Amino acid sequence: MANSEGSKLWGGRFVGNTDPVMERFNASIAYDQRMWSADVRGSKAYVKALQKADLVSTEEMNSILHGMEQISEEWAKGVFEVKSGDEDIHTANERRLRELIGEPAGKLHTGRSRNDQVVTDMRLWLRDSMATLKEDALQLVATMVERAAVEIDVLFPGYTHMQRAQPIRWSHWILSHAVAVSRDVERLQEIRTRVNVLPLGSGAIAGTPFNIDRELLRRELEFDDISINSMDATGQRDCVAEFLFWASLCLSHLSKLAEDLLLYSTKEFSFVSLSDAYSTGSSLMPQKKNADSLELIRSKAGRVFGRCAGFMMTIKGLPSAYNKDLQEDKEAMFDCFDSLHGALQVSTGVMSTLQIKRPVMEAALSPDMLATDLAYYLVRKGVPFREAHGLSGKAVSLAESKNIPLNQLTVEDLATISPLFHRDVASVWDYTSSVEQYSAPGGTAKSSVTAQVQHLRKWLQAQTQ
Ligand code: ARG
Repeated sequence: MANSEGSKLWGGRFVGNTDPVMERFNASIAYDQRMWSADVRGSKAYVKALQKADLVSTEEMNSILHGMEQISEEWAKGVFEVKSGDEDIHTANERRLRELIGEPAGKLHTGRSRNDQVVTDMRLWLRDSMATLKEDALQLVATMVERAAVEIDVLFPGYTHMQRAQPIRWSHWILSHAVAVSRDVERLQEIRTRVNVLPLGSGAIAGTPFNIDRELLRRELEFDDISINSMDATGQRDCVAEFLFWASLCLSHLSKLAEDLLLYSTKEFSFVSLSDAYSTGSSLMPQKKNADSLELIRSKAGRVFGRCAGFMMTIKGLPSAYNKDLQEDKEAMFDCFDSLHGALQVSTGVMSTLQIKRPVMEAALSPDMLATDLAYYLVRKGVPFREAHGLSGKAVSLAESKNIPLNQLTVEDLATISPLFHRDVASVWDYTSSVEQYSAPGGTAKSSVTAQVQHLRKWLQAQTQ
């Protein structure tokens, strides 16, 4: 239903009704109502600044505060009634305030614009939501670290280019993903410093002509800083773009984890088996157990990066200060939050419940994966690595021509390649002693993986302090 003349908060200069199609096209209330709590908080702080500036009386302030409290309760109980003509959360709350307390409601927007109001709400919302995502990510890291500690003795093939590369510890693989997510947590913290800046008091573009105490607003709303330029504050969405990029990168990490596990859970690999809690069946093939959880995590990376790229296109080339294009920021932000919140929790669930098939993992190790060790054997006898690499390659080719595994070559066979091969070459064919060579920090030896576990445990503790 179209609104009649002048009934809108900005309706004064308009004579006709808004086309109902335009009304729907223009409205953001369907999604920005998620920020109701931030909007109420912002208004409660703002009325205090108005009172300090003598723009509302103490009585009017109390009446507005009381009204906002009631609005908050209505939203919390799910009984707030959105009416046609409520363009966005800001207009809806102000309309309701007027219904509840009458005239003083009209003073709340003094010197404020929806341009500084909306970014204030968004920054409050994002700040809280980022804290939730941090918790989610920490849970995932903690789950991976503890799993790595328990399963530290399990060896399996490490792949590069998806080809068998070298034997590694299963825990080394787990921690490679945990470390990536720990960086995501740190990156989120860094973004927070730029999110937690107060734009309120910037007005529409020029600032505020009244004696609005922005420092009071900052304290009330627990921001670390206040914005330094009103045009910039109302016309930019850097922190949204940063958050969307953060979400994209974090999901690219989760999608990599998901992809590995999808592969490892195939019949062909059979390294792991996903818990039924995170799998689904096929409507047609009774034998199927599909890892939908992992496929969805993988897919969210594309979805979220799409949001990021889409929003970059929206802000590219915009003229200075607020333009309605910026309204597009919210759906991207909410969608990325929802995707991450889901993907992080499901990843934690998958990682804490999946079962590994240790015998299959260890049986998948093959002597050819020790060809590098064979070269290192020669290096330890003084052969330059390049040369040793070539000699070991010859051994691989000899084994292939004889159609036998690399470790079945006799010392006599090897002696035709280099006189430095002796009986002690037998020690090369041991997977555990192979991984134990990699004891430098970051490597796959037990001592090094244990150090990684300890490092991450300490890091986790520091995050929660
Ligand atoms: N719903 C709007 C948004 O999300 C609020 C700001 C509107 N400002 C304006 N000048 N029309 O961007």
